[in-house]
Order: sequence, then structure tokens, then C-alpha cells
Amino acid sequence: MNKNTIKGFSKLSKEGKIEWIVNEYLGGDDTSIDLLKSYWHEDESIQKIHDEFIENTITNFYIPFGIAPNFLINNQIFCVPMAIEESSVVAAAAKNATFWMNRGGFKSKVISTTKIGHVHFAWYGDFEKLKLFFESIKHKFHEETENLTRNMRERGGGILDIQILNRTDLEPNYYQIQAKFETCEAMGANFINSILEEFSKILQREIESSNFSEEDKKIVILMCILSNYTPECLVRSEVSCPLAELSDDPDIDVTLFAKKFEQAIHVANIEPYRATTHNKGIFNGIDAVIIATGNDFRAVEACGHTYASKTGQYKSLTNVEVKDGQFKFWIEVPIAVGTVGGLTSLHPMVKFAHQLLGNPKAKNLMEIIAAVGLAQNFGAVRSLVTTGIQKGHMKMHLLNILNQLGASESEKDQIKLYFNNKVVSHKAVVDQFCKLRGVKNKTSVKHNS
Ligand code: MEV
Repeated sequence: MNKNTIKGFSKLSKEGKIEWIVNEYLGGDDTSIDLLKSYWHEDESIQKIHDEFIENTITNFYIPFGIAPNFLINNQIFCVPMAIEESSVVAAAAKNATFWMNRGGFKSKVISTTKIGHVHFAWYGDFEKLKLFFESIKHKFHEETENLTRNMRERGGGILDIQILNRTDLEPNYYQIQAKFETCEAMGANFINSILEEFSKILQREIESSNFSEEDKKIVILMCILSNYTPECLVRSEVSCPLAELSDDPDIDVTLFAKKFEQAIHVANIEPYRATTHNKGIFNGIDAVIIATGNDFRAVEACGHTYASKTGQYKSLTNVEVKDGQFKFWIEVPIAVGTVGGLTSLHPMVKFAHQLLGNPKAKNLMEIIAAVGLAQNFGAVRSLVTTGIQKGHMKMHLLNILNQLGASESEKDQIKLYFNNKVVSHKAVVDQFCKLRGVKNKTSVKHNS
């Protein structure tokens, strides 16, 4: 075996794992052990919960958990929990939540909540024959999964639709069972995947025991998996106000601002380089709430980006209309989330996040998340077409720079005050810091920490 490799790493105790990586990769440096252990939760039972979320846990990785208050969504005020490391995101969400709270707030509406999954398989006969056969045995897919679907059906969900699809336009002999589901409060991945796996067994058994020719009895199941592309699990959120109220900064000409805003959305619709960054900003907000509420941000992001490309051109997830003196701005985005299952009842901070939001139903959580994405995008586009993004961004980043320099609390206060009415840049902060310390350059700075 090569040096630095190991068999059975997962079997080592947590201490054993740490010791091994420190010895093999970090030259036996004990400070790494202290660092890793310092991130363990002091309450062993809470730490154990975290340890067991994944395999090979050696410690925890913190990201800030912030709050964006004043989100008025469907006439109800929310304090939105956001877990994110990027300096300006929560500040922007909070600022724009308050801005829109004073203009009627966000109107969010779930359009549909359908999830989808597929059994992908190869078959070598005539599709019409397969389709007829499938229709004749379709009831078995419902009947034989009754045990799996019982609880979900009792909650109002279950299998909505099962179809056989001919995908030979994409690939010779490629077919799918496509099933649609309502998963109520659950994100539903395990539910859907279990059912699909059952479907594949039923299909295979039925085809193999049919009176088809030997050639037509040949079926190769490739895989059974939900799709994270859920265009029918869709939510819309909207803000609007009279054009005259579009800014509370008297220096901003609202007509010009609205025009530039429209142009910015247009550019995101025609130019994928811009659209990617535009939508990334939307996901700054969406992901932060998804993470705080224990949902799967990779799934929601992947879905959002596919949805943004649904016309064949990757476009903005937000839209704007300026008409008859009214500014209207909205987002339409698929968001598949759960309020039960997964981490929701396990992770103490996730439980707290749900409690803070008033333990919303999955549909309400979709509405909240869409509003946050919209707020984030409004803030980003407003900054981009007015002051530029760096002003606000660097102001928030100032503390990171000062922390990197090891500034004391009093030095931070003085430098923050200094930059109150000045443009923040990394160099300007370092220069000011050195000036305050009375040193020539940052290499001569002694860290306080
Ligand atoms: C930065 O994380 C996000 C923005 O770049 C989004 C945008 O450009 O719209 C500010």
C-alpha cells in the first residue's frame, strides 16, 4: 500500500482518525489536534448527532448563522435564518426585506408541488407493444407499492401518475417509466427512490413472464432515481411599487434606475456569462435559507440552473416589468424542500430555524425562500446599476480584512469609522491599519490574537 493511504479509516475512532491524519499528513503537528477538537461541541450528545450525519467525521465546520428580519411575505412578518459565509449576503437580504416591507412586501405563491422520478431502462422491441402492455399492468405498480405509499397517502400525497416514455429520440432502445409524486411535507427523495426501485422490479418481472417473444422479453434496467429537476415544484414571488417609490435615496433618479434595472435583467436573459452571476446572486439568498432549514442546496441549485435553461438559453430566474408608472419584479423558481425528514428533526440549529419561521409547511417554506432569492437579486441589481457592487460588498468585507490583520476591537472601531464615508479596498484598509499601528507595512504588524 502507498504511504499516506489507509484501509479501514472509517473503523478508527474519531481520535484515531485525527491522530492518523495528523501523523500522516501534518508532520505530527499537535496544534492541528487542538484546533480540530476545539470545534467539537461541548455537549457530547449533540456532537454525536453531528458525528453521525456523515461518515468519517472528525470535527465540525462552522459557517455563520445570521438573521434577516423584516421579511413581509403574504402579509406575515418573518425573521429569516440564513447560513452563509459571504460577508454581504445577510446584510443585503435584511436591507431589501425592510425596503420591500415598506412597499407592501412580497407576494409569494406556490404554483405546484409535483416531484418526479424515472426508471431508466433499455428494451429492444416495438414501443407500441410495450406501451399497450404497460397500460395493462399499470395497476400493479400502484397495488404493489401500497405498503410503501400508505403513510404518504394518509397525509394526502403519494403517486400521482405513472407513464412509460419512449426516449429513443435520445438513444436507441432507451425508455423510461416516469412517475410523478406528491410528497407533502417531505422532500421525498427516499420515498421516490424506494418506489422507483420497486417499479423496476415489477416491470422486469412482468416483461420476463409475459407472452412476448424471447427477444422482446429482454429488458435491461439501468437505474432508478428521482430527478432533482422539478419544474412542477414551482413557486413565484413578486414585489411591486409605484415607480416614484422605487428608491429611498433622493440622489437616485427612479426612472433612469428602473430603465437600467430592466436592461440588467435583459442582459441576463441574453448573455449566459451575466445570467450565471445574476442567478448565483439569487442562490446566495436561496441557499442560505435552504442550508439553515436543513435542506439540500445542491439539489435546489442544480434544479434552478436547469430551469433557467428551459428554453435552451440559460436565462435570468427573475423578471421585471415597468409599466403605467408601476415597477413589478418577480421570480419563478422550482424549490423542492421538506419540513420533515432529513436533518429537520435532528440538527438542533435546523430545528431552531424552523421554529423561528413558525414551523412552516413545505409550501410556505418555498414561498419564504423564493422571496429571499428575489430580495437578494433586487439588492444586487440595484447596487450594480447604481453605486456598483463593491461599495456595499467591501464595507461588509472590511471586518474580514481587519480580522486577517489581527486588529483589536478598538482598532476595528476606529477603522470602521474612518471608512464610513470612504471606498473600502484591501490596500486602503491595510494602509490605514498600518498607519494606526505606526508601522511601515503589514509584515511588521504584530497580531493581537
Ligand atoms: C455576489 O456573490 C453576487 C453578485 O455578483 C450577484 C450579481 O452580480 O447579480 C453580486
